[in-house]
Amino acid sequence: MTIIVTGGAGFIGSNFVFHMLKNHPEDRIICLDKLTYAGNLSTLAPVMNQSNFRFVKDDICDREAVYRLFEEEHPDIVVNFAAESHVDRSIETPEIFLQTNIIGTAVLMDACRKYGIRRYHQVSTDEVYGDLPLDRPDLFFTEETPIHTSSPYSSSKASADLLVMAYHRTYELPVTISRCSNNYGPYHFPEKLIPLMIVNALHDKPLPVYGEGLNVRDWLYVEDHCKAIDLVIHNGRVGEVYNIGGHNEMRNIDIVKLICNALGKPESLITHVADRKGHDMRYAIDPTKIHNELGWLPETKFADGIEQTIDWYLHHQEWWETIISGEYQNYYDKMYGNRAVLV
Ligand code: NAD
Ligand code: DAU
Repeated sequence: MTIIVTGGAGFIGSNFVFHMLKNHPEDRIICLDKLTYAGNLSTLAPVMNQSNFRFVKDDICDREAVYRLFEEEHPDIVVNFAAESHVDRSIETPEIFLQTNIIGTAVLMDACRKYGIRRYHQVSTDEVYGDLPLDRPDLFFTEETPIHTSSPYSSSKASADLLVMAYHRTYELPVTISRCSNNYGPYHFPEKLIPLMIVNALHDKPLPVYGEGLNVRDWLYVEDHCKAIDLVIHNGRVGEVYNIGGHNEMRNIDIVKLICNALGKPESLITHVADRKGHDMRYAIDPTKIHNELGWLPETKFADGIEQTIDWYLHHQEWWETIISGEYQNYYDKMYGNRAVLV
């Protein structure tokens, strides 16, 4: 089979490319990626010369380029990871999120309609469900939880999900959607909580925790997410949504303290700063459906996954040093330079 993986030079997409090449060597993997600030070609260097892998630098919003690729490759499956993915950036500049996350999804699905496809898979997020209160630990997101978004990012992802379902109903496009909780692991861009704290701690820089740090996220090791998508594209039912999460809820402040301790850095580096606008309190996935239907369960315990992740950052300094020495510095100064410090 020929599989187009969009956004394969980013965090989860690259881990998925590696997963597929390793576990399905008979398949041909085409990575379509625009190489935005979040895409990194060096990540894909180990597979670049593999005969069943091709990298194409293009924008999923570029209809001509996408159609050309479909004419060349006749894909059987498209897995769409390509997106603007950072909530904080969406609060600063929403428009690019609408462009890539909504229009890009429509262009990809139009190509699937025009040239035919066995499966279009949309990689979505638990953020489309909004958030849960901290005082109701009995509540979880199921596939039936109403869409109720908070940020321009989550709204753009929810819009894309609605379009995907509309293309299924209207054009009978064979689609699936997965909605996953927070991922962590290798190649995570250092604008996100876990890699940002690791990188800052290694430089003895302040660790900027938004507000009191009581917000809860449900962390999943990235390889477990890749395995779940692999199952959904092969065995998932067309027209269905699958939630993916590991029942691994943690408060931000506890994650940051854990990172300090693991790296032997003082917790006094922790700096409470002004909160994110519209900050979601708690995410928690109920993964019963994917477990019952497809037999998926998370395999990596958080204690092991976070240790492996910290170790990966310690041993791949060149990968993230290159990133943070470029445009990232301007981003960091803009987002954190004037942010109020809470006492
Ligand atoms: P990322 O920001 O690390 O990577 C995004 C990739 O998409 C980059 O390689 C970038 O170059 C590429 N891209 C962006 N715009 C593009 C365009 N117009 N055309 C082609 N390529 C483009 O993102 P990530 O964290 O790996 O997330 C991947 C997907 O998974 C996203 O759709 C995101 O919404 C979803 N998701 C992420 C998480 C998470 O915890 N990171 C959890 C659930 C769902
Ligand atoms: O839940 C899935 C989502 O998880 C994905 O859809 C998004 O693409 C992904 O970025 C992630 O969104 P979050 O906003 O939860 O992730 P982030 O790493 O940006 O933040 C995690 C928590 O940490 C959140 O409560 C905000 C907080 N935070 C984040 C940063 C970057 C801080 O306290 N300080 C920081 O500097």
